Amino acid sequence: MSKPKILVARAIFPEIISRLEQHFEVETNQSDAIWSKAELADKLKDKDGAFTTGGDRIDVEVLAACPRLKICANMAVGYNNFDLDAMTAAGVLATNAPDVLTETTADFGFALLMATARRVTESEHFLRAGKWNKWSFDMFAGSDIHGSTLGVLGMGRIGQGIAKRGAHGFGMKVIYHNRSRLDAAMEVECKASYVSKEELLRTADHVVLVLPYSPASHHTIGAAELAMMKPTATLVNIARGGIVDDAALAKALRDKTIAAAGLDVFEGEPKVHPDLLTVPNVVLTPHIASATVPTRMAMANLAVDNLIGFFKDGKPLTPLNPA
Ligand code: DGY
Repeated sequence: MSKPKILVARAIFPEIISRLEQHFEVETNQSDAIWSKAELADKLKDKDGAFTTGGDRIDVEVLAACPRLKICANMAVGYNNFDLDAMTAAGVLATNAPDVLTETTADFGFALLMATARRVTESEHFLRAGKWNKWSFDMFAGSDIHGSTLGVLGMGRIGQGIAKRGAHGFGMKVIYHNRSRLDAAMEVECKASYVSKEELLRTADHVVLVLPYSPASHHTIGAAELAMMKPTATLVNIARGGIVDDAALAKALRDKTIAAAGLDVFEGEPKVHPDLLTVPNVVLTPHIASATVPTRMAMANLAVDNLIGFFKDGKPLTPLNPA
């Protein structure tokens, strides 16, 4: 019997390709070029399955061009690159890669929070530019993490990881807002209190965004929300671009409506709003929150497990839709 045909839409670890080749006929995007939607559809038109990353858009147009396609396995916990309704209607199963990246991503959320609040990159640039000629009492004075109030917006697994690090590691008072409230036991474990979004924005010293992107969460943080925050506050986004209005954020940072921001994700990435590149009080990283070798391997292996499970007995490990 011939093997199912799989497209790997981006370059990936050779070990992962070897594993896939044991089960499938595999075509890989060796050059790692970003394919246009038309190119992706063309590559997928004779494939039974796809190994995708968060940048590979699967929507009505792509699905219409790919009648053989039965499954797309995303190597990401986020799946806003999938039009899930369209995939379900077309009978295409979608899977994501949850859990395996939770702790690594929460670690990075904290790294970004600390770099932002303590002005790590701004001060390093100053030093590298040869501008440091004396110690001074207020040079790069930032804000404290320990003992401050941490506001977590979006309290899924990664949000809970951020909350636990803040409460248990740094003695922070943790408040959170989420679509639904955690059960009482988890609130105790995270030492976190549920508040409204407005209260969180008004009272937190540090706000970390960990909510999924959907049309409903588009610009959750815009000019009005930034105006509610303390002028000493920091904002960290490790969730998705589009949750923050980047133009409004750049203005708030320039006007010092808030003190600083740390961003790992951007509207329209890999493009970054030019105004963000000109303000000093923002730490910018290129969507690397889950980027450790063991975690990226685990994410890729979970995507492979989903493909194997689906083609073996119709049972992927982490399905997103009933297709
Ligand atoms: C995810 O898994 O959603 C991360 O953003 C990595 O792409």
